[in-house]
Amino acid sequence: MMRWWQDAVFYQIYPRSFADSNGDGIGDLKGIIGKLDYLASLGVDALWISPFFPSPQKDFGYDVSDYQGVDPAYGTLDDAKALFGEAHRRGIRIVLDLVVNHSSDEHPWFKAARASKEAPEHDWYIWRPLEGTKPNNWVCLFEQSSAWFPNPATGERYLCTFTPFQPEFNWRNPELRKAIYGVMGYWLDLGADGFRLDVATAYIKDEGLRSNPFSPNLIPDLFQKHLYDRNRPEVHGIFREMRAITGDDRVLIGETHGFAPELAAASYGEGDELHLNFNFDFMATTWSARKLREAAERWYALLPTGAWPVFTLSNHDQSRHAFRYRGRTGAETEGRAKIAAALLLTLRGSPFLYYGEEIAMGCERLPRARLRDPLGIRTWPLGFLGRDPERSPMQWDGSATGGFTTGESWLPVNSDVATRNVAAQWRDPDSVLSRYRELIALRRAHPALREGELRFLDGPEGLLAYERCAGGETIIVVLNFASRARIVDIKAPGRVLLGEDGRDTLVHAGTLELGPLETLMILSSAGTDGRL
Ligand code: NOJ
Ligand code: CA
Repeated sequence: MMRWWQDAVFYQIYPRSFADSNGDGIGDLKGIIGKLDYLASLGVDALWISPFFPSPQKDFGYDVSDYQGVDPAYGTLDDAKALFGEAHRRGIRIVLDLVVNHSSDEHPWFKAARASKEAPEHDWYIWRPLEGTKPNNWVCLFEQSSAWFPNPATGERYLCTFTPFQPEFNWRNPELRKAIYGVMGYWLDLGADGFRLDVATAYIKDEGLRSNPFSPNLIPDLFQKHLYDRNRPEVHGIFREMRAITGDDRVLIGETHGFAPELAAASYGEGDELHLNFNFDFMATTWSARKLREAAERWYALLPTGAWPVFTLSNHDQSRHAFRYRGRTGAETEGRAKIAAALLLTLRGSPFLYYGEEIAMGCERLPRARLRDPLGIRTWPLGFLGRDPERSPMQWDGSATGGFTTGESWLPVNSDVATRNVAAQWRDPDSVLSRYRELIALRRAHPALREGELRFLDGPEGLLAYERCAGGETIIVVLNFASRARIVDIKAPGRVLLGEDGRDTLVHAGTLELGPLETLMILSSAGTDGRL
């Protein structure tokens, strides 16, 4: 039997940018509640909501100052409870973002810890004496500096590898563990269906705090192999403890160094660690049928027996894929977005959508004065490093603020809002949005697309094809990555589940012309011989 998290289409919401209910220009929980009917009719099964807990917003919620509340900018605890209730009523589950590699420096735990070495919370963070040289070469990624920051009150330095406002926890301390596990229990009792674990493989550091060796890679390594500040073997013990808390009805989704899929694969343990782990390989892959196939094959091969794959093309830290895969014309960009959607929603594994990808939202460069992301500000003018462009407000309608707010939005709305928005695409049967709805509905209707085994089919360059089989049905998916027509040889005839306009409802064995950027899905009574 499949678990719900193997069956689900997940949808990530960046709450600040999704829907603003009170005109202050910042998205909020009531805004999300107001869009649940939309999400239900899109067909998604679960929402991962980026952090909405109290936070000084130095890293927009990834710096939490109270793990059991709601930031007033996003609403109240009652709003969170209402969101759980309203979502569940529609059959939608809610996954929270648990950010427990670090807290905000304004969290009462850190305030107590930095005030005195005698405070019980002192040892919940990582300290070294202020005197003498810094303990090692670890870096603070967003500050592009040493990761060690002075705390004159105790004559020590503390560790921050993201911003200087995100002091890192000492997971070797049992009381800290207890406190975090208490936070998990608190939200599970309120009805949360699981957690996405922010930078989970960073939780525990090398006991001796050894310096990292050099790496020639700028991104994502920042010229260091993160052998000692991340990815320590002891982290797996934490994952097992967390799994014991959630069981299998609630889900744990690890941000377990997705750019190194072997680390993500190891975080499944022997079925006793994290249920799902992100693999960001697709985000690092250019528009190429062959490269995307290779990335998927690599992921499948790395996964231990019984581990369930995750696929994702975009999130709040990476350029949106409609931008990365943009074509020479708007039509080409949309065609590619449809192919990407078909890939994401028909591979074997749980797909994670990022808000706005269902209308092929893109990324636009922002003027220096409009930047908000600390990383973007620090690395300006290297615009590709900043994360504001992928966090622009959701484009609900064609008005100047995109229906996101009645006030002034915290980040600019993309300039194509008049034509690219949910309202316009909802009415248009050929839109990217309509394609997402169709694909999600097909997934629901056909067990082969959810649980079926997957076999890639060899064929001409520029095509990506595979078959999915379960319960006596075979579905063949053929994706034409090229912007020109192709002739293919169909060996498995059948009924067309999805094709471009004008395609007959049946395909017969023999040659067939595939349109530019066409997705063809065939429900076949016969299988193939592994070739197209
Ligand atoms: C990963 C999150 O996805 C990112 O947005 C955040 O800045 C860092 N972790 C630090 O929490
Ligand atoms: Ca608001």
